[in-house]
Amino acid sequence: MSGTMPSAQQLAEAAALLEAGQIVAFPTETVYGLGADAENPEAIARIYAAKGRPSSHPVIVHVVDGADLSYWASEVPAEAERLIAAFWPGPLTLILKRAAHVPAAVAGGQDTVGLRCPSHPVAQALLSRFRRGRGGIAAPSANKFGQVSPTTAQHVRDEFGEGVFVLEGDGVDVGIESTIVDLSRLDQGVGPVLLRPGAITREMLAKVLGVMPALPDAAAPRVSGSLKAHYAPHTPLAMLDAAGLATQLATLNAQARVAWLGWTEVKDPRVTHVAAPASAEAYAHALYRTLRRLDREHYQYLFVEAVPADGAWDGVRDRLQRAAAAFNG
Ligand code: TXA
Ligand code: MG
Repeated sequence: MSGTMPSAQQLAEAAALLEAGQIVAFPTETVYGLGADAENPEAIARIYAAKGRPSSHPVIVHVVDGADLSYWASEVPAEAERLIAAFWPGPLTLILKRAAHVPAAVAGGQDTVGLRCPSHPVAQALLSRFRRGRGGIAAPSANKFGQVSPTTAQHVRDEFGEGVFVLEGDGVDVGIESTIVDLSRLDQGVGPVLLRPGAITREMLAKVLGVMPALPDAAAPRVSGSLKAHYAPHTPLAMLDAAGLATQLATLNAQARVAWLGWTEVKDPRVTHVAAPASAEAYAHALYRTLRRLDREHYQYLFVEAVPADGAWDGVRDRLQRAAAAFNG
């Protein structure tokens, strides 16, 4: 990680804006966030308004490295302590029971709170200046509701214009949103639940927890990413194998222009082949940037080669399935 780092003056300005109840976009190691003071319901309302997001959707509270979690959560179970020791600062969000004084507005009215300690140095620098490190920054991904998350400052400006203050920073390396684990119902006998897969995989969590986190059930806290039409590019997207692509191409006319994000070579003049990265990490890193670029190139379809079935690909597969689901009715 090197290159762009905001000046001390820009960081001070961003912290002052947050303290005044305004919103500020900032880089994290996953995607850019659109931040506001987590203890100021009016500031949180500004995030919802800017994003065009329903206010029933909870947002993640970002905290500085070493923050006292008992301030934010009414209970910090041993499972949380273990995951924090293993993965914070880093791309993991924990859902815990919310402390009574934390505004319900950050949790979309639920009795829980999502907590994340990002590893990105700009996020940490901002968190340590904002309220001298004692505050929390509520921040969803810095995109309009239903769009793919931004991985560059330019993506943020493309969506919000110059009206939103944007801190810049290289090192938005992960490229997809944090893994979310619900630990809020342990006292009801419900073990850890993986609400959203990400760079920290189910297997990595299982190694630390000693149990495989369950997949969400109907009673699990709501996650807006689980709505259809989340993470969606504008161009219709489908995931298929090379044989499925051939079947699709047979239905299209000679003028059709489609993009194929995959590993298998396709010899058809209508197809623009976009080489897919080999590792899940590299694929995730490039995914949203690639979807935004291909969207601007106005293909009739984005065809994506089915990604490997193993756990390392769960995060990428989840985002692609949601993007595809947006066009399946
Ligand atoms: O990597 C990330 O997590 C990025 C960066 C900016 O930190 N943030 C992000 O935020 O992806 P957002 O709002 O786009 O997604 C947050 C997810 C939502 O699906 C939301 O429902 C869930 O976290 N969430 C937040 N607080 C929650 C809570 N108390 N209970 C259940 N789900 C919660
Ligand atoms: Mg989001």
